[in-house]
Amino acid sequence: MILQDKKLETFIKSLKIKRYISGPRLNIQLKPEIENKSGFAVFLTEENSIIKIRIRKTDQSFQKEIFFYTSISKKHPCIKRYIPKLINYSNKNLQYLEIEYIKDYKTLGSIQEIKRINTDLLIKLIETINKFHFKITKNKIITDKTKKIPKSTEKRLMKYFNINPKAFKEKINRIFKKNKYRTFITGDRNPKQILVNYEKNQIKLIDFNFCGIGNPSLDYTYLLLTLLPKYKKYEKLYLETLKKKYKYDGSFWEVFSIDIAFRCIDNYHFWLIEKRNKKLAEYVKKLFYIYYSRI
Ligand SMILES: Nc1ncnc2c1ncn2[C@@H]1O[C@H](COP(=O)(O)OP(=O)(O)OP(=O)(O)O)[C@@H](O)[C@H]1O
Ligand SMILES: [Mg+2]
Repeated sequence: MILQDKKLETFIKSLKIKRYISGPRLNIQLKPEIENKSGFAVFLTEENSIIKIRIRKTDQSFQKEIFFYTSISKKHPCIKRYIPKLINYSNKNLQYLEIEYIKDYKTLGSIQEIKRINTDLLIKLIETINKFHFKITKNKIITDKTKKIPKSTEKRLMKYFNINPKAFKEKINRIFKKNKYRTFITGDRNPKQILVNYEKNQIKLIDFNFCGIGNPSLDYTYLLLTLLPKYKKYEKLYLETLKKKYKYDGSFWEVFSIDIAFRCIDNYHFWLIEKRNKKLAEYVKKLFYIYYSRI
């Protein structure tokens, strides 16, 4: 098991760690408490930098994040104000990334922070994500035009939504094939990975493990879905802002709806099973049918 790797152990012990941030919790002997979690351990150092270490060899996403910081952000200096500065990295046997710690910004990951969202900030968020898509010109990452559906998603689809996975898959692959919007996307705009400074009205984005080429809609969906259960009023504003500013046609919105449906399947399961929040689960289920009917 990689966590018992001596080099990794020596490396982690050599760091001046101020605070453990995320990933599998490691004890002194570097044994995992939970084996199946994130492939990274993230620390804040005494020098105020963030160190993200790849601890699971099976995880391929590290390469994408390195590529993002070393190549894409270098070629496109205009995006540098939205991301942490790269300090150091190693892409060899011991793989890690050291980036600037963004102080005075809060992640949107908590309910308290999501509550502070207002109209201006929402528009700013949409604009910031959009800048990523359009300021970054062609690059050489290639992804195929199909969407893989994990077995776990298929099971949930049948169990909770009473939908035949075969029909679902066919529909989705048809839509992905005719998807004409292909831009650089950050790939995972989970609210935890959006940092906000309310005084400066500024936003920074972190975590590029899933960046690549895709339909830009994929960067907007999770954010909308996280806002919706609390702020139904934002759905209209959000969709209108996107429609007004960016004039996407059908294939953008179909992929958008698919992605919302996908996330509903996962979130429905997550909330229902893990948080036993039946009310929210019902709401997410309704959202699934609304967005699914649009494709
Ligand atoms: N440059 C940064 N400045 C401030 N905080 C950061 C920075 N980078 C990461 N963090 C904090 O560390 C957390 C984890 O970072 P990141 O998302 O890059 O790693 P991860 O392995 O994908 O973790 P997770 O599975 O929790 O998303 C972030 O949610 C954020 O709170
Ligand atoms: Mg992350």
